[in-house]
Amino acid sequence: MRRDPLIALRPWETPEVTSWGRLPMNAVDRRGDALSLDGSWHFQLLPTPHGCSGEWTRIEVPGAWTMQDLGDLPQYTNFRMPWGEFPPASPAANPTGVYERSVDIPAEWAGRRIVLQVGAAESVLLVHVNGRPVGISKDSRLAAEFDLSDVVRPGDPATLRLTVIKWSDASHIEDQDQWWHAGITRSVLLYATDPLHLADVTVRARQDGELRVDCQVRDAAGALPEGWYVTGALGGQLLVQDAEFDRVNAEDMRVSDFLGEVRLSATVRAVRPWTAETPELYELTVRLHRADGSVADTSHHRVGFRNVEVCGPNLLVNGERIFIRGINRHDFHPLTGRTVSAADMRADLVLLKRFGFNAIRTAHYPNDPTLLDLADELGFYVVDEANIESHDHAHEIADDPRYLGAFVDRVSRMVLRDKNHPSVIIWSLGNESDYGANHDAAAGWIRRHDPTRPLQYEGAAKLDWAGPSVASDIACPMYAPIEDCVAHALSGEQTKPLIQCEYSHAMGNSNGTLADHWAAIESIPGLQGGFIWEFWDHGILQRVNDGRPAGRAGAGLYGKGVAAPGHRWAYGGDFGDSPNDGGFCADGLVFPDRTPKPAMYEHREIAAPVRLRYCRGVFLVQNRQHFRSLEWLNAEWCLVHEDGRTQTAPSVLPGVLPGSTEAIAMPFPLPEGEAWLTLRVTTARDEAWAPRGTEVCLPQVRLSTGVAAAPSHESVPGASVEVDGEGRLVHPLLASPPVLSLWRAPTDNDEIGGMAARWRDWGLDALVRKVVGVDREGAHVTVRAEYATGAGIVRHEQVITPVAGGLRIEESAELPEALDDVARVGTVFETVGGLDVLDWYGQGPWESYPDRSAGAPVGHHSLPVDELFTPYLRPQESGGRHGVRRFTLSAPDATGLAVGLGAPSQVSVSRYRAEDLAAATHHDELVPRPGCVVHLDAAHRGLGTASCGPDTSAQYLIAPGIHRWAWTLRVL
Ligand code: GAL
Ligand code: MG
Repeated sequence: MRRDPLIALRPWETPEVTSWGRLPMNAVDRRGDALSLDGSWHFQLLPTPHGCSGEWTRIEVPGAWTMQDLGDLPQYTNFRMPWGEFPPASPAANPTGVYERSVDIPAEWAGRRIVLQVGAAESVLLVHVNGRPVGISKDSRLAAEFDLSDVVRPGDPATLRLTVIKWSDASHIEDQDQWWHAGITRSVLLYATDPLHLADVTVRARQDGELRVDCQVRDAAGALPEGWYVTGALGGQLLVQDAEFDRVNAEDMRVSDFLGEVRLSATVRAVRPWTAETPELYELTVRLHRADGSVADTSHHRVGFRNVEVCGPNLLVNGERIFIRGINRHDFHPLTGRTVSAADMRADLVLLKRFGFNAIRTAHYPNDPTLLDLADELGFYVVDEANIESHDHAHEIADDPRYLGAFVDRVSRMVLRDKNHPSVIIWSLGNESDYGANHDAAAGWIRRHDPTRPLQYEGAAKLDWAGPSVASDIACPMYAPIEDCVAHALSGEQTKPLIQCEYSHAMGNSNGTLADHWAAIESIPGLQGGFIWEFWDHGILQRVNDGRPAGRAGAGLYGKGVAAPGHRWAYGGDFGDSPNDGGFCADGLVFPDRTPKPAMYEHREIAAPVRLRYCRGVFLVQNRQHFRSLEWLNAEWCLVHEDGRTQTAPSVLPGVLPGSTEAIAMPFPLPEGEAWLTLRVTTARDEAWAPRGTEVCLPQVRLSTGVAAAPSHESVPGASVEVDGEGRLVHPLLASPPVLSLWRAPTDNDEIGGMAARWRDWGLDALVRKVVGVDREGAHVTVRAEYATGAGIVRHEQVITPVAGGLRIEESAELPEALDDVARVGTVFETVGGLDVLDWYGQGPWESYPDRSAGAPVGHHSLPVDELFTPYLRPQESGGRHGVRRFTLSAPDATGLAVGLGAPSQVSVSRYRAEDLAAATHHDELVPRPGCVVHLDAAHRGLGTASCGPDTSAQYLIAPGIHRWAWTLRVL
C-alpha cells in the first residue's frame, strides 16, 4: 500500500502544524445554500492512525463515535490528562475513526468553486477526496473548509474520507473539564460558489446608526476580473460605497489584483439599538456583481447596532453600565455528548431567558455558530472563548514556541468567524492555561483586528486585578470570595470592570449565598456580575445492564431530572474510564435532561426585572432593567394570610423608566398580623422566549401589623404521654420516634469542602443515643439523652406535654465548643406509610435552604411527598424547605398528622434517610421507604459552594452552645 503522506507526516504530534490546505476562516455564512452531508456514513475505528483497514460499520454524522457504541467509550477528567505523555506527544494507542461516503457532485456545479466544510472534528482531521490528500485541520471547535474544485468532477460521484485522530498535540490544549469524546461532532456540508466570491464580510454597526461593511473579494482563478463591484442593502436602505476608503487605498497603492476590498456604509436614522433586553436585528444583504451587473455572490447578515466599551472600572453597553447575569455553557447533550441540535440550543437559551440570565460565556471554546445566531436573536451578551485550555501542562505550554501558532490560529479564527455577531461583546483567549507569551501574541492579533471589543483572559488578570495587561481588559477571576470583590471595588485601586468569569459552583445541592453576591454587586459600583458555573450537569444517559451510553436510542427515556428505570445518569468512572474525576462533571443548574434545579428559581428572583418594596405604608415598584420599560409585563397581586386565606387581584404596573422606582397601589386593606404580599409578574405578550402569561418573577414583601396572637399551648389535664423504656415517644402515626439529628447526607460541597470528613470523624453520621433520664411530672415527660461525639458530649432534652389535640415537644441541645460546624440541629422522626401529601405554610414551592432562600416565596404550598425530592446526580441532602411555620402530612382520606413549629424552621420530608442517600452513588440504587422521614431543624447549615470556591458565609454556620426549639404534633 502506498504510504499516505498525511499519516506519514505524523501531524498529530506536531503542534506547529495547525492546518494544511485549509481555507481561511471568514464570516460569510454558507449554510443556507449548502448540500448537507449529515446522516449515515461508513465508518471504521482503527486502534492507531497507522492501523490497517478492517470491517466497515456505520456512524451518524454529526456524532462522536464515543456515544455510538463503536468500541471506544467516553472518559471524564477535570484537568488531568487521561494519559501520561508530555506535550506535544500523545499515546501510541490512539483511536482513529475513518468516516467515508460517496457524494454525487451536482452537474450544475460545473465551473464553480466547490468547498467542503467540516463543522468540528476532534482532535485532528485529515481529509482525502477520491483518494487524494486534501487537507489537515486542528481545533475541535471550529469548522474547517477545503477547496475541492480540483479533486471532484461535477456530475460524478466523489468519495470523501474524513479521518479523525483522537489524541494529539492539540489534546494538550483542549484539556477542558468535560468528557473526552472523539469524532465529527458538528455538521458536514458541501457548497459551491462562483469563482468570483465574497471571501469575507466584516460588519460594524454602532448604537448611533452608523454602519460600516468591509468586504473582501477574491477569484478562484487568482486575478480579479475587470469591473466587479459590491452593493449592499439594509432592509430597504441602500448602502453607499465609501469613496474615502477607496481614495486612501488608491493613494497608498493598496489596490490589489487578487484581493478586492470595498467599504460600504450607511447611516440608519432612528435606529433601534441592540441590547440583550431589546435584541433588535436588521437584515443586511451584500451582493458581489460581475461587470455586467449579474450577481456572482450574496451574503446575508443580521445586524445589531450597539456599542461596547470599557470605561475605567465599568463595562458599558450603549453607554450603560449593565449587569452581567451570566452562565457558563458547554456544548452538551446526554444522548449525543457534544452534538447539539439547533432545537436543543434554542431550548437552552429559552430556558436561560426564562430564568433571568442575560449573558453566556461559551466555556471553553467557540460554540456551534447557531448558538450565536440565537444569542443575537433572543438577546444575550456573549463572552466568546477560544478553544485553548492546557490545564494539566499550562505552565509549560504558555511560552512554548511550538504552540505559538496554535494559540494565534485558534483565537484569530474564532474572531474571524464571530466578529459580526452583536451578541459577542467580549473575546476570551481561553481558560486555565497559565499566562505566557503565546497569549500576548494572540491578544496582539485581536487588538489589531478588532479594536471594537474588549478582551479578557482570567489567567492574565488573576494575580493582579488592577494591573495593566495586554491580554485582559476585565478583571475576571473565578470563585473569588464576595469579601475580596467588595474590598477591591472599595479600595480606590480598581482600574477594570470586575466580572467573575466563574462563580457560584452549581455542583449538586449548591449555589448558597448567591443572593449575598448580588446584594454586593448591586450596591457597590465596580462590581458588575459574573458567570455562574455552569449550565448543565454532564450526566450521560447510560443503560445499567451493559453500561453502554444509551445514545440516540435513549430519546425520551428520562424526565423531571431522572433517568427511566434501567438507566442512570453516568458520570466519571461509570464507563470504566480511568483515570476519572467522578461526579465533578455534574455541576450545572439544570439536570442532564435540562430540568431546572431549584437554584434556578433563586437566580430568577435575584435577576427579576421588577422589585417590590414596602416602605412606611407605600408600595414601590422598581424597574431593574437597563433599557426596557415594564410594558412587556403583566402583574397580579397575591396576598397570603397566615390563616390560609389567599386573595388575588390584577394589577397594572406603573410606567417606570429603567433603573427608576414608582409607587404602586395595592388593592387590599392592610391585613392584621403577619401576611405576605406577592406580585406575580408574567409576560404580557408573546416574547421570542416565552409565550404570553409566562411567569417571570414573584417578588414578595412581608406585611406585619399589630402583634400576632401567640398560639396557646395549655396542657390538657388527664391526658398522658406515652414513651418507651428508652424514653422514646410512642405515637400511632410515627414508625420511628423523634430523636436528635446533627447530620445530613453530605452534599457535594460538604464532601469536597472537607466538612463531611469532619462530621464522620466526629461520628455525627452514626450518633448513638444514650438515655440518661426519663422524668414524669404531672402530664409532662422530660427525657434527657446524651450523644457521644468525637468533639465531646451533646446533651439533648425533650419535654413532651399533652396539649389540645396532640403533643407539644420542647427540645434543647447543647453542643460542646469543639463541635463548631455541624450540618443541622433538629429533630428527625419517621411516619407510618400512606401519608403522601405535604401541605405547608412557609417558603416554596421549590426547595430552599438558609443561604439559598431568596427565590422561594412564603405561601400555602402543597406537593406529593415524592415530588419534594430533588434528584441531584449523586444522592445527597435534598428537598429541604426553608422558613416553614407548620405543615400537614396526609393520606387521600385526609387523615394524617399536623406539625406546628415554634419558629420558622428548615423542614425536609423525604422517602429516604440521610444514611440511605449517603450510601448511594446513583439514583437507581435508592429504594424509597414506605413512610416519610421528617426533619425539623432549629438550625441548618448553609450550602455554600465549597466544591469549587468559597464555603457559605459565617452567618449560615451553626454555632456550638445551646439550641432550643419547640413543635406540636397533632393527629388530623
Ligand atoms: C474551573 C474551570 C471549569 C471547571 C470548574 C469546576 O476552574 O474553569 O472548567 O473545571 O472550575 O467545575
Ligand atoms: Mg480546567
